[in-house]
Amino acid sequence: MKTDNSKILFDRAMQVLVEGCSSASRGPLNYKPYPAYMREGKGARIWDVDGNEFIDWQLSFGCLPLGHAHPKIVEIVQEKVAGGTHFATALEVEVETAELMVSMLPHVDKVRFANTGTEACMTGVRMARGITGKRKVLKFEGHYHGWYDGLLVSSNPQYPTTLGHPNDPVRIPDSSGLTPGSWEDTLVCVWNDEDALERMLDAHGHDLACVVMEGVMSNMGVIPPKPGYLKRAQEMCRAHNVLFYLDETVTGFRVAPGGAAELYDLQPDIVTYGKALGQGFPVAAIAGPDHIMESIEYGKVLHYGSHNAPRLGLYAAKTMLEEMTRDDQAGFKKIAEIGEQMTTRLNQVAKDTGQNMRVQNVGSMFHPVFTDLDAITDYREFCATVDLKKYGTFSELMRNQGIFFSGNKILHNLSCTEHTQSDIDASITAAGKALEQMK
Ligand SMILES: Cc1ncc(COP(=O)(O)O)c(C=O)c1O
Repeated sequence: MKTDNSKILFDRAMQVLVEGCSSASRGPLNYKPYPAYMREGKGARIWDVDGNEFIDWQLSFGCLPLGHAHPKIVEIVQEKVAGGTHFATALEVEVETAELMVSMLPHVDKVRFANTGTEACMTGVRMARGITGKRKVLKFEGHYHGWYDGLLVSSNPQYPTTLGHPNDPVRIPDSSGLTPGSWEDTLVCVWNDEDALERMLDAHGHDLACVVMEGVMSNMGVIPPKPGYLKRAQEMCRAHNVLFYLDETVTGFRVAPGGAAELYDLQPDIVTYGKALGQGFPVAAIAGPDHIMESIEYGKVLHYGSHNAPRLGLYAAKTMLEEMTRDDQAGFKKIAEIGEQMTTRLNQVAKDTGQNMRVQNVGSMFHPVFTDLDAITDYREFCATVDLKKYGTFSELMRNQGIFFSGNKILHNLSCTEHTQSDIDASITAAGKALEQMK
């Protein structure tokens, strides 16, 4: 693959951008020796500055349920941009988008728009503390909620010997620059284990404002919840008078119209959305029932933001929701079917080539991991058995054949409404070749 123009850009970028880009995940850490600089995208395809074409399964970390430059998104953004990009005043489209969201989310009465999942999660935790008057929050090993200090603990893969006893996981800060105070009140528990959660709630419930979790573990490949686990977790939280906070930054408007809450029949107290919601624009939201959401009224729990509810982003969000729900939720059904097909066929290719690659999915979210286990059910199994280097090689061999699989070894791949059957077939053929080559 010719990458001369990317190389030139990388050399320039290294003079002015840290790691040649704007997030470590996009740079040479995951794309060696330098990333392909992208020029444009259309549907499920992207093109780099050397003219190389890729079928995109990374889709901006899940921000593009309709793929790139969807005609309806282009049309609405072109129509509206001439009327101004952002007002920081109340907007009609803000009301319309919120109405649409609330109509899709039975557990939600009100929403408040933000820009990123990180901000939304930071606000969710502050709300929980404000409402309950309690200090501590409980998160889970391997769950990522953005890079806010208070939740930036035990989110990365680690050597299994550093994790401590599962009854009392070692809390591992994910960054320098965190004061001990910033995560002093953040407890960490193993996920997908009812007994572990019960023990933590018994010990700390009186001090706990909320339990926050992803409905599907989606920053450690894709690890689905065990049957009944989430519902039981919600019940246990209610029994201990602790708010149940579901972070749907990834799963929201992706795994079902109502997200993981719909898929697993949950009524979370606090929910956060991001990624898919903005269809490529930075739009996030905090949502919940009235008695929770009233906590961010002025004078109670503070939530601000100059860029909240950007006009163009909201038009994109509204249009995405309309498109995905049209014809009896056809968009949601389509991305789930594509994800299922990719998962089944990649697993078959792995079997045929004798490779220990396992693909796990929840609907449109799927991820290949190299492990000798039949399935990965929790973070500790992931840390102990998954060969991340092998995934790195596999995804690189895929990209060399024009199939863009996430270079980030722990972040999943996804489908969008624009992937075609021939995109799937080409990707499966490429996977077969990559796995043969790796033998
Ligand atoms: C579950 C979850 N919550 C929150 C975030 C943070 O979102 P953002 O990157 O928009 O700040 C992420 C990002 O990957 C996420 O996966």
